[in-house]
Amino acid sequence: MCRPRYYGIEYEINPWMHVADKVDAALASQQWDALYATFTDLGEGIELVEQPQGLPDMVFTANAGVLWNNRFVLSNFRHAERQGEEPHFKAELERLGFEVHTLDKAISFEGAGDALFVGDTLFCASGFRTDVESHAEVGRILDVEVVSLELVDPRFYHLDTCFCPLNASTVLFASAAFSAESAQTVRARVPHVIEVPADIASGFACNAMPIGDRVVSSTAAAQLQEALRDAGYLTVGLPMTEFMKSGGGVRCLSLPLDLGRSA
Ligand code: ARG
Repeated sequence: MCRPRYYGIEYEINPWMHVADKVDAALASQQWDALYATFTDLGEGIELVEQPQGLPDMVFTANAGVLWNNRFVLSNFRHAERQGEEPHFKAELERLGFEVHTLDKAISFEGAGDALFVGDTLFCASGFRTDVESHAEVGRILDVEVVSLELVDPRFYHLDTCFCPLNASTVLFASAAFSAESAQTVRARVPHVIEVPADIASGFACNAMPIGDRVVSSTAAAQLQEALRDAGYLTVGLPMTEFMKSGGGVRCLSLPLDLGRSA
């Protein structure tokens, strides 16, 4: 995770961001601290990366890259505003002992924001931030099977805003965010799909982190409580208002480091 030290809305690169819509820094800190405490209370150990001044979106560590076992594929951010984060994430993942791989600079790729594992299959999205050309290359580097999906709704510009694997056979899924063909692919490939209406997904309910029998998400996830209970999960809904102003929530603020190890 990355503690919000210089977090704010300083530019607009997705439909959620409005520079006029100021972040309440104290409240952002409080919301981030509550997330950190929730993860810690659930037994997670957390590595922190420092946020340098001038990189307000670096708090969204999900976009650093994607990892599997000891290999990490570094992101090539679509927008110049975030490209300065790349060397910081590279150094940090190297410090943590990962074998860091890079992609051709001409290909955009935004890490775990657009690449999520269901079991040991990597579901990758394209459409807004990540180029479809990255998918096969990432699969080759990580030596995993890749399923490509296409995002079509700009509100759900990253896969982790509309798709959340809870375990090897269950996902939260806001089908409105996907092309008809991709929605069909998800239903064909995943045994248990929990449909999330677009208005609930707009509250960043799918931007969630499953930990044990808990699903940590935004307050909007309260509306999924029953469906989650039926799937065997308890819902933990945290206020994420200050990060939603930037188009992010719980999942975006975190990058799991143990993927492929516990599997
Ligand atoms: N403002 C950030 C951006 O537009 C938010 C990133 C959210 N991250 C995510 N994994 N969905 O890049």
